[in-house]
Amino acid sequence: MKIQMSTDKQPLLQPYESKNLKLRNRVVMAPMTRSRANNAEKAATGDLQGTYYEQRASAGLIITEGSQVSEKAVGYINTPGIHSAAQVAGWKEVTEKVHAAGGTIFLQLWHVGRMSHPDFHNGDLPHSASAINPNSKSYTPEGFKDTVAPKEMTKEDIEQTIKDFANAAKNAIEAGFDGVEIHSSNGYLFHQFFNATSNHRTDEYGGSKENRARFLFEVLDAVKQQIPIQKVGLRLNPSLHGIFGMTMDEDTIPTFDYIIEKLNDYDLAYLHLSEPFTDVSEIPYAETQIAKRYRPIYKGTLMINSNFDQEKGNQVIEDGDADLVAFGKPYISNPDLVERFEQGVELTDWDQDTFYTPGHKGYTDYEAKTAVKA
Ligand SMILES: Cc1cc2nc3c(=O)[nH]c(=O)nc-3n(C[C@H](O)[C@H](O)[C@H](O)COP(=O)(O)O)c2cc1C
Repeated sequence: MKIQMSTDKQPLLQPYESKNLKLRNRVVMAPMTRSRANNAEKAATGDLQGTYYEQRASAGLIITEGSQVSEKAVGYINTPGIHSAAQVAGWKEVTEKVHAAGGTIFLQLWHVGRMSHPDFHNGDLPHSASAINPNSKSYTPEGFKDTVAPKEMTKEDIEQTIKDFANAAKNAIEAGFDGVEIHSSNGYLFHQFFNATSNHRTDEYGGSKENRARFLFEVLDAVKQQIPIQKVGLRLNPSLHGIFGMTMDEDTIPTFDYIIEKLNDYDLAYLHLSEPFTDVSEIPYAETQIAKRYRPIYKGTLMINSNFDQEKGNQVIEDGDADLVAFGKPYISNPDLVERFEQGVELTDWDQDTFYTPGHKGYTDYEAKTAVKA
């Protein structure tokens, strides 16, 4: 379906309005971990994260870096949390700055599951659907270490984690966020439940696709008791293969088909999908065209991500395959990405060496080349 645009503005710069979302353009800042919460509280601050997101406030929507919903959820150094009073206070400084700059900002709620390491948990095992080692690397305070076989979550662990997500969502609204995004993507905890290779459970959370998706829907049901479901977005990466020990089988895409169809019963702010992170054209059972497959299935707002540039972003919207486009790495080095698209200004390259290093360097010191509009 081709969509009709109301003005001669390029599609990415058109405002977007749905029942649940009103954005001044369709350019979204994708969630990106930057590991700058190097304080005892693991709290964001107005000075660091506040300045960084404020600089990027002309995005139609900012989705923050993944923020752990509990101590158990953490798996990377210096990532901010959203489970303590100090963390809520820190994020409040951030949302105030972004709102003062006219921006809209959602917090990404995160649990890494088996991608964590005992070093983060006083020697205790990380949690997952099953005790299956992803045979990957965990980024610990002492550098990269081999992952371990996690503890298979008990029913009590699952119930506690559901409560942690609901509590984190409530905290996020208290901290002034316009909404939250559930990080059910990229090989982390929810994804570990979805895929049969990482979920060998024999109870109601394993086996059938309905069972492997159950945990996610129980979390959504609990979150919507705490905050309006219209303020909740959700992220999925159906064709993730070969990353963090995730592989695909004949059941993987049908599981995502089931999840996405069922998400129509939830009046979400949006569904955020990623095109495959790697070339999966030779991978059996992978879907190579995520937006095209799921646009007809999902009835609400659809956001698409991964490896988009201005041209591809405009095209996917014009083709009617997505409503919003999330840009990750380009946002690291181009705080005024929207204005650069608008004025045809060349993009600045990002420096991978400072993705996860502390402080302002490589974080808040990328300059705008245009006059950013408030
Ligand atoms: C430094 C970095 C950190 C990231 N952290 C997160 C994260 O916390 N949560 C998440 O969902 N995705 C995360 N991602 C994935 C991005 O959101 C995005 O999907 C990916 O970069 C592909 O989009 P791009 O090609 O526009 O960069 C991260 C990516 C990068 C480069």
